[in-house]
Amino acid sequence: MIVLKSQREIEAMKKAGEILAACHREIAKRIKPGITTWEIDQFVDQFLSENNATPEQKGYKGYEYATCASINDEICHGFPRKEPLKEGDIVTIDMVVNYNGALADSAWSYAVGKISLETEHLLNVTKEALYKGIEQAVPGNRIGDIGHAIQKYVEGEGFSVVRDFIGHGIGAVIHEKPDVPHYGLPGKGPRIKEGMVFTIEPMVNVGRYQTKMDNNGWTARTIDGKNSAQYEHTIAITKDGPFILTDQG
Ligand code: MF3
Ligand code: CO
Repeated sequence: MIVLKSQREIEAMKKAGEILAACHREIAKRIKPGITTWEIDQFVDQFLSENNATPEQKGYKGYEYATCASINDEICHGFPRKEPLKEGDIVTIDMVVNYNGALADSAWSYAVGKISLETEHLLNVTKEALYKGIEQAVPGNRIGDIGHAIQKYVEGEGFSVVRDFIGHGIGAVIHEKPDVPHYGLPGKGPRIKEGMVFTIEPMVNVGRYQTKMDNNGWTARTIDGKNSAQYEHTIAITKDGPFILTDQG
């Protein structure tokens, strides 16, 4: 069942989204060669508590950190760790913020120092893919229109879209209906309605789209060892179209 949110619920999620966006802007200033994702995770913990918010991922299904920090060929759910980031790396920081019981979810990929032209292209295409998906999130369209727009664009740029992890409705809990794949056919899937709140979070790979799971049971990485990037926003559907709750401005 897809739960539609009231204006008041969306307002509450917008406050969580504003804190999350501010946190990403702070992370952007801190990412450079030598910093560890462990330090970023600690920064996020502190930033959220200073803003009277909490990291919803911590404790979720036994996950132990405020953030997921996925480096290079890691697609998602990387663990923060005490290993310095190196020039040329990319890292995706993903987090869910809880503010007074309302949630928002946003992931962002960051370049560490100077990166290769191919990796820069990967970041640009992945971010653009997110916005191409968001454009389709208007009342009357179907969920499949979002994934189709993303897949068509990404594959046209010579990259691939991950199938094993998808966007999701969000509200009182992190994962609700609807499922929001980043691939698929136009005109398919549930109809998009005013009051829906969901994430769009394409993971884009330089090489093949298939994933493999680390022994830790959480971290997914590319099967060919090539880089993967991700950008994610939480959006609310209004009668005028999508409203980005986690916009960094
Ligand atoms: N933020 C993730 C998402 O986009 C959820 C991560 S679940 C966790 O769906 F347990 F890893 F935190
Ligand atoms: Co997320």
